[in-house]
Amino acid sequence: MRNESLVSITDYSKEDILEVLENARHFEENPNRRLLEGKVVATLFFEPSTRTRLSFETAVNRLGGRVIGFSDASTTSSTKGETLKDTIMMVSNYVDLIIMRHYLDGAARYASEVSCKPIINAGDGANQHPSQTMLDLYSIYKTQGKLDGLNITMVGDLKYGRTVHSLIMAMSHFSPTFHFVAPDELKIPDDYKKFCDSKGIKYYEHDEFTEEVINNADILYMTRVQRERFTDLMVYEKVKDIYTLHNQMLENSKPNLRVLHPLPRVNEISTDVDDNPKAYYFEQAKNGVYARQAIICKVLGIKL
Ligand code: CP
Repeated sequence: MRNESLVSITDYSKEDILEVLENARHFEENPNRRLLEGKVVATLFFEPSTRTRLSFETAVNRLGGRVIGFSDASTTSSTKGETLKDTIMMVSNYVDLIIMRHYLDGAARYASEVSCKPIINAGDGANQHPSQTMLDLYSIYKTQGKLDGLNITMVGDLKYGRTVHSLIMAMSHFSPTFHFVAPDELKIPDDYKKFCDSKGIKYYEHDEFTEEVINNADILYMTRVQRERFTDLMVYEKVKDIYTLHNQMLENSKPNLRVLHPLPRVNEISTDVDDNPKAYYFEQAKNGVYARQAIICKVLGIKL
């Protein structure tokens, strides 16, 4: 069935991305617009979330729509054996839009194929998190004044971190240079390196998180080691605290550097960084409401 789902960031062209960013700016200036009057949106979260679910629900509320859904799939008929297909076919009969997070890679694409209403992927396994990417791009644009030609340094779990995967693909429109900082166990998958190669994008891999790497960065994108994706928890124990950013490590960083993190953080950023003006992760999460208002309107074909 054809619909306007946002499943992967590659569903959006550069022009689509710029349109969403422009509309996010509009919503930051005018957060309360009743553009979803009479519409019902479902948030189906088969995996835990704080920011994504609550910012999507805030976005719908600020747009005058209504929300149904669940944040704990154990309270739903999936525990009785109902398939994802049946759940999506049912819910798509009730609502105008489904926002879904699922623990399986590809679940959102599958849902978009069986749903008669658009799907927004709120994260599928280790695969993609396109709405996070839109708020990341908005945050980068707001703090750097541009998206083109930036040094983006990604640190931590680059293997399972879906936010990293989507951001690499989106930034490919803007001639970045990437620095990937990860231990062997969490290196960026070859598919993303091949993707960069195919787009002529420069990238460098590092296994040490040095001040030299930090001092070269415009954006330092820290990530959590994704415990829930490991099949061998011994490996997780080995790498879980591999890199921690401390305030003193930012001493010689560029003036324009901003530290981003999709959150939640565990030990990747010491709390002594929080008061540094270069720490931007809480504002980044706030930007999620505006970016998601813009995405919802685009997916539903609502013009501002
Ligand atoms: N960034 C992000 O996806 O956070 P949540 O898991 O809290 O939604």
